[in-house]
Amino acid sequence: MAGEEPRIDPWGTLEVKDYKRLMEVFGIKPIETVFPLLEKAGMKPSVHMRRGIVFGHRDLDRVLEARARGERVAVLTGFMPSGRFHFGHKLTVDQLIYYQRNGFKVFVAIADAEASIVRRIPRREAVRIGVEEYIANMIALGLDPDKTEFYFQTARGTPYYRLAQLFAGKVTAAEMEAIYGDLSPAKIMAALTQAADILHVQLDEYGGYKYVVVPVGADQDPHLRLTRDLADRMGGIIELERPASTYHKMQRGLDGAKMSSSRPDSTIFLTDPLPEARRKLMRALTGGRATAEEQRRLGGVPEACTVYDMDMYHLMSDEELAKIYRDCRSGSILCGECKLIAWERMKALMEEHGSRLEEARKIAWSVVETPRF
Ligand code: TRP
Ligand code: SF4
Repeated sequence: MAGEEPRIDPWGTLEVKDYKRLMEVFGIKPIETVFPLLEKAGMKPSVHMRRGIVFGHRDLDRVLEARARGERVAVLTGFMPSGRFHFGHKLTVDQLIYYQRNGFKVFVAIADAEASIVRRIPRREAVRIGVEEYIANMIALGLDPDKTEFYFQTARGTPYYRLAQLFAGKVTAAEMEAIYGDLSPAKIMAALTQAADILHVQLDEYGGYKYVVVPVGADQDPHLRLTRDLADRMGGIIELERPASTYHKMQRGLDGAKMSSSRPDSTIFLTDPLPEARRKLMRALTGGRATAEEQRRLGGVPEACTVYDMDMYHLMSDEELAKIYRDCRSGSILCGECKLIAWERMKALMEEHGSRLEEARKIAWSVVETPRF
């Protein structure tokens, strides 16, 4: 598709393959450009930034400069409560924890409005999933509920809704079509609601956080572009800063295609029974060769391997990861053995998570206000 602008559909199944091109076309800057500033703000690059999983940003430099000046800074993201919590979600939560430990205020939107209008998830079900799957798992992973503001989109109060309404007057159908393709009332509402998620914490009613970073998968960039424009256009009504954002490469499923709770065989959920998780991992698509002989001779291809993805996103230290990479490339390790190493790590992680989750489930309903209708 040379020369043609890629359009990203945030509700589609499109896989974002060409992250470099995304940066060129949409002006997302390489994440490395903020490394010196991170240091100035007293922070270190996160493990996901170091590994290029969080690969790009817009305006993160402005937030870090504010932080270095001693201003209040926040991080906000949202989750659609449409299925079980899996390792792809963990990647985003790990980023929230990183910012939290570095003094950022954390906001988490449970996008129940979006789940019900775009995905047709019954309201009650979306609330249950939001609390018992998303909030509980986030707390179990280490997000501190005392320093996190979780909220449901449909329980957020008037000023937040007012923003979404006012945004509707600041964008044309043609502009939205150019960003999203085919429009529907549901998509328009969901997009304006998401813009309200991102911008409302700047209102005094919600803490007045002017410097906000939004960590998302690259598929969410259309929403960020719309939100930035809306922030610019609200002048005269209310002054809003543009949000900063970071973009991560979404983890592939174990078959190499999109990871999604609707494809449970290629997605490991943090609450999978261990034998089931093990079975999924053992069947995962690797970058191995057709025969052991060939693999010893040619080596494997970690870049093509979903087990290596797991190692890199969730399971291993830099040294361990470098060793797997070398051993795979040189053919000195075969996939069976390599999977067992990954499984040992994953098993330990999931066992620990399981016991923390039991505790987290006891408090999850009490850390968020649930919608009354
Ligand atoms: N649309 C997002 C998703 O599908 C969820 C979301 C809602 C969100 N509000 C947000 C993400 C605000 C980032 C910021 O996952
Ligand atoms: Fe993947 Fe390991 Fe096989 Fe290499 S040896 S392709 S990293 S499973």
